[in-house]
Amino acid sequence: MISGLSKLPQKYAEPLTVGNVILKSRVLQSPLSGVTDLVFRRLVRRYAPDSMLYTEMISATDLHHRSALPKLMEIDRHETPISIQLFDCRPDFLAEAAQKAVAEGADTVDINMGCPVNKITKKGGGSSLLRQPELAAQIVRSVVGAVDIPVTVKTRIGWDDAEITILDFAKRMEDAGAKMITVHARTRSQGYTGNAKWEWIRKVKEVLTIPVIANGDIFSVEAAIACLVQTGADGVMCSRGTLGYPFLVGEVDHFLKTGEYLPKPTAIKCLQVAKEHLQGLWDYKGIRGIRQSRKHMTWYAKGFVGAAALRDRLCRIESVQDGFDCLDAAIEQIANFQGEFQAISPEDMAEMIAMQQ
Ligand SMILES: Cc1cc2nc3c(=O)[nH]c(=O)nc-3n(C[C@H](O)[C@H](O)[C@H](O)COP(=O)(O)O)c2cc1C
Repeated sequence: MISGLSKLPQKYAEPLTVGNVILKSRVLQSPLSGVTDLVFRRLVRRYAPDSMLYTEMISATDLHHRSALPKLMEIDRHETPISIQLFDCRPDFLAEAAQKAVAEGADTVDINMGCPVNKITKKGGGSSLLRQPELAAQIVRSVVGAVDIPVTVKTRIGWDDAEITILDFAKRMEDAGAKMITVHARTRSQGYTGNAKWEWIRKVKEVLTIPVIANGDIFSVEAAIACLVQTGADGVMCSRGTLGYPFLVGEVDHFLKTGEYLPKPTAIKCLQVAKEHLQGLWDYKGIRGIRQSRKHMTWYAKGFVGAAALRDRLCRIESVQDGFDCLDAAIEQIANFQGEFQAISPEDMAEMIAMQQ
């Protein structure tokens, strides 16, 4: 039994209203650069049909200077609810980019104000906006004025431990017209290290009226429940826990709605999904997809005997066939191992145990 489950309010099984959009799930798949492309999202969607999914973050300046839309922005007409995430520091470019997002079919536009990467912050985007709250508010006002869909913000709790500014910042975003805020409960200087400081999410929840989504360290159903109980947030967003595990958002969603666990996918199931992922990346992106697939493949290969050796091979694959050969061999090995294990009768097993005593 999950501790705190009995204290879980009924609201988590109910829809969440974000501006004029109603979400049938309070579990969201985070935007992940280099990960949450169309191929990955299709897998997540299969197991989490109601959840909000996000594109990878897209530069508004880049969009402004291009005539064609980048693949990053491509969404499937059937994949609603979907949010297109933008980053930049230019209110006018962001407004223009948001209109393109609407034309693509986005249900919401999210503005990234949390990315810690130097390349982004040096140009004034991502988490550097935490240090420019007036500009951040101006961005939200500008985008809200340009589109009819809800504008949301994803940010961190502050720049560093000496500068935790999220309470004032979040309020400014709400006042500027943001319809939801996702708080990754780490500072910019933490990067992805140390624990997420969920206590700040509770404080944000206390000062805002718009929905607050908790993010950071949601690696399991149990973590999601603990986070919701501790923070009172309106929903949770799963991130690194979904790498090589597109089942997590659906697992948490199912639990919130029913109070029951879905059965965990077996190692064989995970590797079969890895094969689909690989094929999808090849179909969608060709050889670039194969190169990108290597990291995904290694993330899927965990938790069984021989996983380390498999990862070693998967990080060097050059084609779909290469990947399939590795994955099929591992699937067969796991199946044989299970077969041998199951072939032992209860009587034999009892005898073996007795002999060891
Ligand atoms: C590989 C990777 C890519 C990410 N890309 C984005 C992104 O494009 N936009 C964004 O808002 N956050 C991005 N993030 C941050 C995550 O969405 C999330 O806020 C963070 O990982 C904290 O959650 P976790 O501790 O559960 O992983 C990225 C994180 C990782 C690890």
